[in-house]
Amino acid sequence: MLETGIEIPTRISNEISVAAAAARSSRSASLSNREQRQRIIAIRAMLTQQNAVLVAHYYVDPQLQELAEVSGGKVADSLEMARFGFEHSATTVVVAGVRFMGETAKILSPQKRVLLVEPEATCSLDLGCPENHFGAFCDTHPDRTVVVYANTSAAVKARADWVVTSSIAVDLIRELASRGEKIIWAPDRFLGDYVRRETGADMLLWKGSCVVHEEFKAETLQNLQQQYPQSKVLVHPESPAPVIALADVVGSTSQLIAAARSLDAPMYIVATEEGIFHKMQQAVPGKKLVPAPTAGEGATCESCAQCPWMKMNSLARLEQVLQPGNEEEVIIPESIRVRAVRPIQRMLEFAHSR
Ligand code: 13P
Ligand code: SF4
Repeated sequence: MLETGIEIPTRISNEISVAAAAARSSRSASLSNREQRQRIIAIRAMLTQQNAVLVAHYYVDPQLQELAEVSGGKVADSLEMARFGFEHSATTVVVAGVRFMGETAKILSPQKRVLLVEPEATCSLDLGCPENHFGAFCDTHPDRTVVVYANTSAAVKARADWVVTSSIAVDLIRELASRGEKIIWAPDRFLGDYVRRETGADMLLWKGSCVVHEEFKAETLQNLQQQYPQSKVLVHPESPAPVIALADVVGSTSQLIAAARSLDAPMYIVATEEGIFHKMQQAVPGKKLVPAPTAGEGATCESCAQCPWMKMNSLARLEQVLQPGNEEEVIIPESIRVRAVRPIQRMLEFAHSR
C-alpha cells in the first residue's frame, strides 16, 4: 500500500498552540450564573430575530450543545450536521464546530447566510491536505476514484468524486470496490487504513491524521480493559490500528453514542474527543464512562483528547458573531462551490439510500 502526503508538523503545531491559547482565553472570562443566563437569553433572541438555526458538533462546549437543542437546532455528527443545515428552513445557519463544517453548509446552501461560531477553528486533517499538493497527487493517478473525508477544505472537495464521513465510509468504499473501482483516499491515514482492512479495497492513502485520535495508546488501553473486564471499548476510526483492534465498536460520534445505548455493559472506555461525554452520559445516565488513555506515564501529548479547534467555540464567541453588522460569513468562490457540491450531494444521496 502506498502512502503519500506532505509532512507539515511545524505548521500544525503552531496552529494548535494558537488555538489552545484562544480557547483558554475565551474560557477564562467567567461569568456569574445570572450573567450566563442573560447571555443565553440574548443569544436566543438574536437567533430568532435573524431566522437562524444553531447546529453543533458533539465535541463543542456542552453549553453550546444545550443551546442548539433548546433553540430548535441540532447536536450531531458531521454527516447529520450537513443534512440538518441543508434541510432546515432557517435563512442563517450557525455552525458550532470547525471550518470544514461551515464550508459544507455553505456549499450545500449558497443562498443561506452561514456563520461559524469560531471562524479560525480548523482541523489538522484539513491543514495536512493542501489542495495544490493533493491535486498534483490525484493527477498522477487519473485511473482512480477520488474519495475525500468531510474534514477537508472546499477546494479539496472540489477535486473529489465523492465526499464521505466516518459514519458511511466503510459502506461507500465497499460499494465502490464492488464496482471494481480503485481509490485515492484522503486525508486521514488511520481511517483510510481501517476502511481498507474492512473492505479489502485497493486504496492509496494520503498521510494525514487527527491530532486528537492519533494520541490514543493501545498498551495503556489494554491495561485498562484488563482492570475492568466488564467494560466495552468504543473507538472512533480516526484512531491508530492497534487501538481500533481493541474496540468492541468502531464508529462515528453518533454511532458510538448509539452503541453506548444499545450495548449491555456497566462501563464504557471511550476513544474519541472528550466533548462526546456530555451527550453520551445523557444517553446512558446509569453507566460509567471513562476516557481512553492518550499517553503512557510521564508522556506529553498535544491534544489529550481535546480538540484545540473545537474548544475555541464558546457562548461568548457565538454572541459576538450574531451581533448586528458582523460580516464574518463563510464565503466560497462559486467556481469551487459548483464542483464541491457534487461529491457532497452524492454522499447525502448514498447515505439516504441505505
Ligand atoms: P464525526 O463525523 O464522527 O462526527 O467526526 C467528526 C470529527 O471531526 C472527528 O474527529
Ligand atoms: Fe479535526 Fe481531529 Fe479536531 Fe475532529 S477532533 S476537528 S478530526 S483535529
